[in-house]
Amino acid sequence: MKAVVTGGAGFIGSHIVEELIKIGFQVHVIDNFSTGKQGYIHPLAIPYEMDICSNKAKEIILKIKPDYLFHLAAQADVVRSTLNPMEDANINIMGTINLLEACKEASVKKFIFSSTSAVYGNITKNPISEEDPTLPLSYYGLSKLSAENYIKRYNHIFGLPYTILRYGNVYGPRQTAKGEGGVIAVFLDKIRNNEKLKIHGDGKQTRDYIYVKDVADANIAAIKNGDNNTFQICTGTSTSIMDLISILSEEHNDDLYYFHSSERIGDIKHSSISNRKAKKHLIWSPSYDIKQGIHETYNFSVNH
Ligand SMILES: NC(=O)c1ccc[n+]([C@@H]2O[C@H](COP(=O)([O-])OP(=O)(O)OC[C@H]3O[C@@H](n4cnc5c(N)ncnc54)[C@H](O)[C@@H]3O)[C@@H](O)[C@H]2O)c1
Repeated sequence: MKAVVTGGAGFIGSHIVEELIKIGFQVHVIDNFSTGKQGYIHPLAIPYEMDICSNKAKEIILKIKPDYLFHLAAQADVVRSTLNPMEDANINIMGTINLLEACKEASVKKFIFSSTSAVYGNITKNPISEEDPTLPLSYYGLSKLSAENYIKRYNHIFGLPYTILRYGNVYGPRQTAKGEGGVIAVFLDKIRNNEKLKIHGDGKQTRDYIYVKDVADANIAAIKNGDNNTFQICTGTSTSIMDLISILSEEHNDDLYYFHSSERIGDIKHSSISNRKAKKHLIWSPSYDIKQGIHETYNFSVNH
């Protein structure tokens, strides 16, 4: 079996590449290394340095004729999307359309898309389910939602099968302190440099933190299950910033120093998302709880 992973040199994509190789896939990686690193790509994967918006990317997909395409390459920085909405839309919407065109022509068995719970915006429902309304706050959330809709249209019009995976806040080895939801990476960076941790507001705000290996497993599950459907990939439990600090200080075996700064404007106080649908139809459930995930991430962080 052959797979193309766009963004396979990035944080989440590189873990998916590893899992695909473990189960015997021939893996091709399309990445422009804007945030990804060559060194993150598994040595058995075949890399192509190119932009997903380019003709070259389309041509290489037509040449490879992959069975599955995992689409992760994205402009994944919320702040950057606000500063440069054209760039964000070009990569996240036009880039996705370019890949969909290639997959349609190459008769790919399935288009597996990495999306985000940022598509919901400031919804107060607890917990959020896949059927809830989407009203993204950021251009990033908007461009990912548009990409989702193009994927659904390609299925409707041309029969291209898909699975859309909307992640909670992903964390784990190789995450940089930038981009989406990287608070654990930011804290680990500060801990490594002996700096104080900065907490916005009272630190009681909660999020669903999902370990990157569980996210990679969800992508593997999508090879066989969850056709033409959308799933939230999360733990179904919420963790506050203060909880994170207490788990990190246990790992660190020492007190951590922190200070409170003003709340961030537009920050959602509590976010709780359900994984019931993924458990039932994707036949996937997370294996890591927050303590186990932070344990592995902390060990990676101190050794790199
Ligand atoms: N990290 C999270 O918490 C999170 C949450 C929800 C969704 N996601 C989604 O998961 C995917 C991967 O995110 P990540 O956290 O691993 O980010 P990342 O920045 O580590 O990975 C993105 C990869 O895509 C590559 N890339 C970017 N633009 C490209 C382009 N135009 N052409 C080719 N390659 C390009 C980068 O070099 C990088 O290797 C993204 O689609 C993101 O929207 C991430």
